[in-house]
Amino acid sequence: MDMMPLDLPTLFPLLLALLATALLLLRRQKHPKNGCCNVPKGTMGWPFIGETLEFLSPHRSNSIGTFLQQRCSRYGKVFKSHLFGSPAIVSCDNEFNMFILQNEGKLFQASYPKAMQGILGQYSLLIVSGEHHRKLRGIAVSFSAMSKSSPVFHSRIEKLAFSMFESWRGRREISFLEEMKKFTLSLMVKTVLSIDPEEPVAMRFLQDFRTYMKGFISLPLNVPGSAYAKAVKARARLSRTVKEIIKQREMTTTTPAPARTCSNDGNCGDGITTTSSGEENGDFLEVILSKHSSIRQMNDDEKVSSVLDIVLGGYETTSTLISLIVYFLHRSPAALLAFKEEHEAIRRNKGKGQPLGWEDYQKMDFTRNVTKEAVRCGNLVKFLHRKALQDVEFKGHLIPRGWKVLPVLAGPNLDSSLHHDHLQFNPWRWTEDKEIGKKTMGYGGGPRVCPGSDLAKVMVAFFLHHLVLTYRWKVKEDEYPIAYPYVEFRNGLHVEIEPVESHV
Ligand code: HEM
Repeated sequence: MDMMPLDLPTLFPLLLALLATALLLLRRQKHPKNGCCNVPKGTMGWPFIGETLEFLSPHRSNSIGTFLQQRCSRYGKVFKSHLFGSPAIVSCDNEFNMFILQNEGKLFQASYPKAMQGILGQYSLLIVSGEHHRKLRGIAVSFSAMSKSSPVFHSRIEKLAFSMFESWRGRREISFLEEMKKFTLSLMVKTVLSIDPEEPVAMRFLQDFRTYMKGFISLPLNVPGSAYAKAVKARARLSRTVKEIIKQREMTTTTPAPARTCSNDGNCGDGITTTSSGEENGDFLEVILSKHSSIRQMNDDEKVSSVLDIVLGGYETTSTLISLIVYFLHRSPAALLAFKEEHEAIRRNKGKGQPLGWEDYQKMDFTRNVTKEAVRCGNLVKFLHRKALQDVEFKGHLIPRGWKVLPVLAGPNLDSSLHHDHLQFNPWRWTEDKEIGKKTMGYGGGPRVCPGSDLAKVMVAFFLHHLVLTYRWKVKEDEYPIAYPYVEFRNGLHVEIEPVESHV
């Protein structure tokens, strides 16, 4: 076959086009001001889906997975990729992660995929930003601060724990994660809306909520019958139920009780006043319906979203965290012994049958360290979604404006250069290493740091106090936590249980 002769007039436009493309690419990769920095190295994968499937590929949650391991060793802890339909910078670097989260709203902004927005709704805290975020967040902070030291909340945890143990009577094996999901969902629904687990509306609410949750872990296909479509519908039903409850409450409460938002340690909600010691009988709805001016301005959809945010935030994460602790303690007999001793001592001091209080929680130092270590090793939230609002320069890297930025929280948690024996579950490291708090961030950071972290720690500590004094447990050999990236256990955490004769 004869080739077409390539003379200069033919080649010229081709060369020009090539040159223009190269210049364009260079412009995108170099910093516009001083040209000092490059976009981090990495690969972009397939058109549109990029490397999303590899990035989301399941792995043990006490590791960062092959995708991140390979790229971090090839390109460094900050690298580029193409994820969730956008060019992206992925960071496993502790300093860079902190920088991203601290600069929320200035250089970076939360930016969750469209599909998640479809389920969460436009007023979810995870979606809104700026002043709107500040206003709605204050309510979540108030709720957490109010509840964590409230005796009413403490007694709810204990009552639900006892009724759960009662339902285990005569059973030798339980699906632990499933049981914990029932426990935390009932607790959140009771605390947020004062609905008891036995009420018919509770059954409906719990059912819809679980369908709603499944939407997060499904393919975002909005076709009839898909998990995603069911979740969108379940959210609409939940929204109607909450609106109905709000209406009834507004009718029955002529003078809504004032919100009490300060905990014993003085951590108060965002400008919402406190009127007494926190011994309220109220629920989260009471806070929402209070006369405080910033809350009064909320429309009904914002109120519904606040309720769902709290239940959603408090339910899945806390149930998984309790399960992770049960898993790690089983594998670490020395830690289990120290844990048990702490709770036996507290109970001995307290006397049989006496309710736990805030002062008991403050004595649970080892338990808090166990919880922190389980968050570090278990990596409940593997990464967060952000985008760059402008070109950003950090440690010689250029982060181009508009790119997705994914701080991987699991990166620093499992970084061997930051933690001695980094794969070892070792609660004592939290007293040995004074700097460890700066090298882990399981609850995020900056203006969006989890408002429920303290509340979660109290739920975990109180539930486990009774568990360790009531049951002995053995985790089945083939169980381990998997990051999907949401954390699940291989077989739902099958656990053998045996009641213990209480000595205290
Ligand atoms: C059990 C452990 C928990 C973990 C590991 C956890 C983790 C996180 C993380 C990493 C974020 C940051 C999200 C981001 O920056 O995009 C977050 C935000 C949030 N969490 Fe938690 N969380 C936990 C428990 C709770 C509880 C108990 C509640 C509610 C009572 C809650 C409510 C929320 C809410 C409402 C947000 C959104 C905050 C905002 O955007 O300003 N979380 N959580």
